[in-house]
Amino acid sequence: MSGKPIAVAFVCLGNICRSPMAEAVFSHVVKEKGLQSQFSRIDSFGTGGWHVGQPPDSRSAETCRKHGVPVNHRAQQIKARHFDEFNYIICMDESNLRNLKRLKPAGSKAEIYLFGHWNTDGKFREIVDDPYYGGNEGFEYNFKQISYFSEEFLKNELQL
Ligand code: 4NP
Repeated sequence: MSGKPIAVAFVCLGNICRSPMAEAVFSHVVKEKGLQSQFSRIDSFGTGGWHVGQPPDSRSAETCRKHGVPVNHRAQQIKARHFDEFNYIICMDESNLRNLKRLKPAGSKAEIYLFGHWNTDGKFREIVDDPYYGGNEGFEYNFKQISYFSEEFLKNELQL
């Protein structure tokens, strides 16, 4: 293992369903693999500010806990300064991606990706769809995508 610890932010629209799940799952996998020293920060944000201060949606939290993944987060909105605080800003859908590219200050350090960039063998949908208005199965599919993308990120981005 080598290199400086990296800071990773996960981003969706409201920061109550998908990105807190991504933060929780990614942190859990990092811990399971004993890779905490490789990361200086793992956090999550929404592009919108409507839910700032709120805990994750109960369906998102329940899905994580059912799979043994602890969740502890309060919603936050991403700001221009965060683009110099994180190495990777990883979002869920194309709408998030457009909003992040608009917000990113010229010359800031963060690299912006869709989480589906790490859909390495194409077995899941690339987009982590907004589950807010759907049923529990949407959260379950999000969880499977996010778990796989997390594993593949670690395999590909850390020189292990
Ligand atoms: P998230 O889901 O972006 O995955 O947190 C949503 C949460 C709230 C809303 C939309 C999506 N909303 O419209 O309030």
